[in-house]
Order: sequence, then C-alpha cells, then structure tokens
Amino acid sequence: MRTIIAPSILSANFARLGEEIEMINRSEADWIHADVMDGVFVPNLSFGFPILKSVARLSQKPLDIHLMIVNPEKFILEVKALGTYIMNVHYEACTHLHRIVQQIRESGMQPAITINPATPVSLLTDIIQEVYLVLIMSVNPGFGGQKFIEHSIEKVCGLRELIEKTNSKALIEVDGGINKEIGTRLVAAGADVLVAGSVIFKSENPEKTIHDLKNLWPFKLETCNIE
Ligand code: DX5
Ligand code: ZN
Repeated sequence: MRTIIAPSILSANFARLGEEIEMINRSEADWIHADVMDGVFVPNLSFGFPILKSVARLSQKPLDIHLMIVNPEKFILEVKALGTYIMNVHYEACTHLHRIVQQIRESGMQPAITINPATPVSLLTDIIQEVYLVLIMSVNPGFGGQKFIEHSIEKVCGLRELIEKTNSKALIEVDGGINKEIGTRLVAAGADVLVAGSVIFKSENPEKTIHDLKNLWPFKLETCNIE
C-alpha cells in the first residue's frame, strides 16, 4: 500500500481557505487533516464545526478530524454529520476510552486513537484490536511548525510490533514536524499515513510537495531491532 498523505490545514492560509482546499482536491493527497483544539487539552484554539462544515462541503477528500479536546464523546454526532468516516480522539483525554471507541463505531464511523509523545505504545495493548488507526504525535500537540521528536521513529517500530503480535489491522499515522527526509524514515519504520502541515503550505509548490510525499521511497530500511 502506498503511503496515505493527509495535509494539515492548520498551516493553510485561512483567508484563502477555499483555494487551499481546491489545491488539495487537485493534488495526490488522500485525506484532509483538520486539527480541532479547545484551549484546555492543548494550550491553543483552532477552529470548530462552522469552519469544518465549510471544509467538508468543499473537500473531495475524506476528512481526518484530529480532536485535541476534552470530552470528545460529546461531539460524536457533529463529527458524523460532517460525512467523515474516521473520528480520532486522544488517549490522554478519555477516561473511558473503550466506551468511547464503541460509541464511535456504533455511530457508523471508524475509531482512531492518538497518543502524545510521552504516552507509550504499550498502553494500547488492550484496545489495539478495536481501533481502525493509531496516530502517534511526533510533536507535542497544539501548534504547527514544531521540531520532530526523534523517539517517534522507535514508537512506530513498537506499534508495528504490537499490531503484528495481536493480528490487529490498525493503520499507523504520524503527525508533527514531518518533511520528506523524516517521512521516508517513518515509512521505512512502518508508518501508513503521514500528516504534514508547514512543509506543504509553506512550500513554493504545495501540490508538488504533496506529490513528493506521496512518492517517498524508503531506500534504506529503518532498523527497528524487532526480534
Ligand atoms: C499539531 C497538529 C498537527 C500540525 C502539523 O498539534 O496536530 O497536525 O498541524 O503541522 P506540522 O507538519 O507543521 O508540524
Ligand atoms: Zn493533527
């Protein structure tokens, strides 16, 4: 399977959001990644459902909604109404994660879980078979344009090992500080989905950057040291 590319519109020009989405529509991107922040779970605010509805109306690609909020279960119906098929909640924001995962599935969407940089992959052992996707944050959530945390590569390796051991079908997504060089290493380590914000929207030719990310070729395999 070729890498799924999800441009993060947090780094887009919001004064020209329609044009930015048209660019993504024309490009080889697979999903549109949209970061919802509440100023509580993360120290920043972004956008909410009025803007997401406009994005959903213009987008020809599925939305990948990354909810960086407390009590995400309150918004299952609103996320579903956007017509998206994945709902992504943070491990650290959900006391009753298993219940929320079931509720998302019962609503007809695919459940996804995000883990922060300090949250170990091993904490997913008892939920990995229930989820469609795991998102490894490779920066602390809340802002675009941050530096990639190197340890995230090892976490991709560890998650791949857990998925294989448990016969889970979960996809591995990584988000934060990704450029072409880091993307290549992540794909070599086993990542299925790459989220990229500033590297796309701050580049001279965003469509070409998306093409390059879509066509990364991991010449040298990242050594995962998995027994
Ligand atoms: C950070 C967000 C990311 C962010 C990625 O909290 O979850 O999706 O937009 O942006 P870059 O690629 O610039 O790190
Ligand atoms: Zn994100």
